[in-house]
Amino acid sequence: MAEPDLAAAIKAALAAVEIPGGGDLAGYAGLSDIIVTPSAVAFAIAVAPGMEAAFGPAREAAQRAAQTVAGTRKIMVSLTGGKPPAKAGPTFSHGKPVPTGKTPVPGIKRIIAVGSGKGGVGKSTTAVNIALALQAGGLKVGILDADLYGPSIPKLLGLEGQPSIRDDGIFSPHEAFGLKAMSIGSMLVKDQAVVWRGPMATSALRQLMRETAWGELDVLIVDLPPGTGDIQISLLQQAIVDGVVIVSTPQDLALIDAKKAIDMIARFSVPVLGLIENMSYFIAPDTGTRYDIFGSGGAEQAARDLGMPFLGAIPLVMSIREGSDAGTPPMVTAPDGPEATAYRAISQQILAQLPAVSR
Ligand SMILES: Nc1ncnc2c1ncn2[C@@H]1O[C@H](COP(=O)(O)OP(=O)(O)OP(=O)(O)O)[C@@H](O)[C@H]1O
Ligand SMILES: [Mg+2]
Repeated sequence: MAEPDLAAAIKAALAAVEIPGGGDLAGYAGLSDIIVTPSAVAFAIAVAPGMEAAFGPAREAAQRAAQTVAGTRKIMVSLTGGKPPAKAGPTFSHGKPVPTGKTPVPGIKRIIAVGSGKGGVGKSTTAVNIALALQAGGLKVGILDADLYGPSIPKLLGLEGQPSIRDDGIFSPHEAFGLKAMSIGSMLVKDQAVVWRGPMATSALRQLMRETAWGELDVLIVDLPPGTGDIQISLLQQAIVDGVVIVSTPQDLALIDAKKAIDMIARFSVPVLGLIENMSYFIAPDTGTRYDIFGSGGAEQAARDLGMPFLGAIPLVMSIREGSDAGTPPMVTAPDGPEATAYRAISQQILAQLPAVSR
């Protein structure tokens, strides 16, 4: 069935779902658009604050009704009450810790998120190569693409096709270069843009993280979208994140944006493990000479000013961009090259900064 037809068919099926107070879900004003991808269906039901429990059975009935129409697609139905997290800014900007209901993800010992203040600083590229460097050090590692608005892990790791879904509705993650990997990007048609509403994004994130058969992992790296939006808040609120690594470029080192991100992370009582400076210096491809085109030591000083460890610098090199575009990260193609050496050194620093927690 074509995707718009399927969305309409699901909506029709939701007419059989009764909601508290009378009426059916298809005609309910709080029903969101129904997003259909080749392997998943997602929609949200917005309810008045305090009505979440009353709507629980309707949510389950909606899940079943949608499943009968959607075949093998995974159904993601979220119930949202009160203010969506996207509008939760003021709760952390007043400087008070935010109460959270954090729970561990079974099988995963550590969760490390990679974030930044600004977009395009190389978070995803760094996240992939750090994950591979940790793996090269003997750890079992997974990577979760939490950038639901602009997923890039499928391209960076050359993931093909969609993740399979087991009979019990759990995703089997992709495997690439030994890493377990999950991304909403693998479930979208090429160049399809998905407009998530805040609550749906947080629900999708929860399901990607908690309804994936990761197996036993020493570390799950989470690649965040830029900035301090709903996804960051949702992750920090719902999961026990052991630390966040901030990626910055030298140009970004006015650090206004990074400071905002750091401030938000602190509100959730999650440690910032340190700052990585990406695209820091240039290595001439012909001579191998290093040029500190932006001066040197700026990031280290900035990290000191921010009261956090400096984890290391990654050069600006064509091979990183080319390898990333081709789905062949430098950690794989040139494990002894200078780029891989930089990523390995940083991964060691990250491990050294992790608070000693045994789980
Ligand atoms: N050290 C580097 N040297 C050269 N190019 C790099 C380096 N790091 C990242 N890039 C390139 O910079 C671009 C942005 O990188 P990337 O997508 O990883 O950034 P991002 O911070 O995740 O972006 P977004 O905010 O959109 O998620 C990509 O084309 C990538 O190949
Ligand atoms: Mg990215």
